[in-house]
Amino acid sequence: MPERPYVIDEMISAKTIAARIEALAQEIRLSFAGTDKLILVGLLRGSFVFIADLVRELDLPVEVDFLEASSYGDAMQSAREVRILKDLRGEISGRDVLVVEDIVDTGFTLSHVVHLLEGRQPRRLETIALLDKPSRREVPVRASWTGFEIPDEFVVGYGIDFAQRNRNLPYIGKVRFIE
Ligand code: IMP
Repeated sequence: MPERPYVIDEMISAKTIAARIEALAQEIRLSFAGTDKLILVGLLRGSFVFIADLVRELDLPVEVDFLEASSYGDAMQSAREVRILKDLRGEISGRDVLVVEDIVDTGFTLSHVVHLLEGRQPRRLETIALLDKPSRREVPVRASWTGFEIPDEFVVGYGIDFAQRNRNLPYIGKVRFIE
């Protein structure tokens, strides 16, 4: 498919993201106070920048693992069928788990991952999403913590891609096609 030209309009600045993550980390620290069993599970690849910033703001003993679920691929369409492309390295049974997601869109990915991980008997399972597009929801799922609610726009940056590009932008921007 030939690439249509587009520009990226800034939607959430790097500074705003950093301030929100600091606040979220405080809430998470209080919620998990006293735990020595916390493991952050980042959903690849979109959450890699978010989890890196979040974990450094989190003043708790914490481990990090990653899970890769199939998602948009190179398109702008959500996948209804979620497949696990890379599973966790470690066990989560009896652990406190915080799933770290970039965006909750239709909700298929998060609900599938939560269902999968619940089956492994964690002590506690919570979720955090940097972005939420509630107007796009098809599966009734809500993250325990959300960074920002956004309208139905296709966004990139801060780890989030369009056809694998733009993950390196320090801010969240929306894609605007020109012509
Ligand atoms: P869901 O299963 O429809 O909730 O989609 C979740 C996944 O789709 C996210 O983890 C992203 O990888 C991808 N996604 C959803 N919205 C966007 C977007 O605006 N830009 C880039 N990727 C997106």
